[in-house]
Amino acid sequence: MRTLSGNIMWHQGTITKKDRRLLNRHDSFTLWFTGLSGSGKSSLANEVEKRLFEMGFRSYILDGDNIRHGLNSNLGFSPDDRKENLRRIGEVSKLFVDAGVITLAAFISPYQVDRDMVRKMFPNGEFIEIFISCPLEICEWRDPKGLYLKARKGELKEFTGISAPYEPPVSPEVVIETGKHSISECVDQIIRYLKLKGKI
Ligand code: PPS
Repeated sequence: MRTLSGNIMWHQGTITKKDRRLLNRHDSFTLWFTGLSGSGKSSLANEVEKRLFEMGFRSYILDGDNIRHGLNSNLGFSPDDRKENLRRIGEVSKLFVDAGVITLAAFISPYQVDRDMVRKMFPNGEFIEIFISCPLEICEWRDPKGLYLKARKGELKEFTGISAPYEPPVSPEVVIETGKHSISECVDQIIRYLKLKGKI
């Protein structure tokens, strides 16, 4: 046992991440989907998970809207709340990866500093940042939940892309352009990347 702070100790279990991966017969890591609302993060994460499932991989999706119903229901969209939202999701993703599961996290995660904070929680290669690049005009035209319309009318404050910033990733592992390619081409691109890197 190693002392972390005060009276809180880190307890190392007997079964390790390596053991769980061996049992699962595959690696575990986090695919972090970042992009504007309506860019296609959730749809793509869902399709990638389906493909991984068909290939026999254990996986789990953490999605912005869902997590904000439960674990993070006390958080809003100020920069501080978004940071805390992502810090908790980062920690949860880390637990899933420790459990041997491929984790797909789909969050706007608009600030570079917050994405870097999450990246630092993982050993090298276990955090794969996927930038879902899609022009604001297309996201706004899609407006699947009618949120852009509300934001334009001023009914929704601090809305990413309209009244709050989105900082595109500086060096993501993968860039996916959902405005230019079909969803199945986008899935193929991600699966190709994972195979190329020997992750699956
Ligand atoms: S963040 O920035 O990463 O903390 O956001 P996230 O947890 O991914 O939550 C984004 C979803 O919340 C809905 N929503 C908003 N998004 C952005 N700005 C504001 N003000 C806002 N209010 C509600 C919206 O449905 C987002 O889902 P997606 O799937 O991205 O459209």
